[in-house]
Amino acid sequence: MISSSSFYTRKIIDKREQFFKKRKSGKNISTSYFLECIINKALEVNPKKILDLGTGNGFVIMEVARKLPQLKNTEFIGVDFSKPMVEKARKNTKNDSRITILRADNFNLPFPNESINIVTDKNTTNISLPELYRVLVRGGWFFFKEYGLGKGIKEIATLFPGRVKTKDPLDYIFELRALGFNYIKFEQFFFVEKKSFEEIKKILEIAPIIKNFSPKKDLHLIKETLFQTGNFTTITSEPFVICAQK
Ligand SMILES: C[S@@+](CC[C@H](N)C(=O)[O-])C[C@H]1O[C@@H](n2cnc3c(N)ncnc32)[C@H](O)[C@@H]1O
Repeated sequence: MISSSSFYTRKIIDKREQFFKKRKSGKNISTSYFLECIINKALEVNPKKILDLGTGNGFVIMEVARKLPQLKNTEFIGVDFSKPMVEKARKNTKNDSRITILRADNFNLPFPNESINIVTDKNTTNISLPELYRVLVRGGWFFFKEYGLGKGIKEIATLFPGRVKTKDPLDYIFELRALGFNYIKFEQFFFVEKKSFEEIKKILEIAPIIKNFSPKKDLHLIKETLFQTGNFTTITSEPFVICAQK
């Protein structure tokens, strides 16, 4: 089910990394809550294998491994189907021999049934819940963080009906329950921030949020609609975190 893998060119990957470094994304409340949930659970279960789906530049797997130096025998694995992302993640994680980055598809994971103790996913919606359920051991954990219905830029997403792929967080919960996940915890955050036109432009350049994004036409619409009265506009974000046990 490999699709849209061409979006992440080396140039875009570098821009993304700079953007998130500046924003100190590990310090963002929803991301730090997500990382804390994973780290606390890993300390409790002493996992053999932790797998991060759509690992991108390896941020999650790197942060989790860094905070868990005591787990000397745990294998930390990140998968991504984008070749330049895999290269970037390998470069970023090369100093920790417990971390492996594989080029693989979230829909066809190269692991046997019931072989992974913890699966994590931050902001990758191109996933198969049945596939991750298959690789999780009985009693294993899934930790998922995503931006929610407005994709973290609700007022912008609303301007492009039918062109922003979203999924109701509650649909994930029903699907996880139907698959057989027993314990499911859901936490949603709510942020309202002032953002500049430049920041919105950067977000849309580094993340494939709007289908068939046309920088000229679409940015013009955003400017005309949301920046009529000044350089900043109000943006709502509703990220959520799901923790579920198989
Ligand atoms: C929005 S980025 C998130 C990256 C990272 N998890 C983070 O939060 O920084 C989505 C990532 O998922 C990867 N991806 C998308 N579909 C995938 C698939 N079917 N299999 C593996 N990786 C996929 C993309 O290449 C990209 O690196």
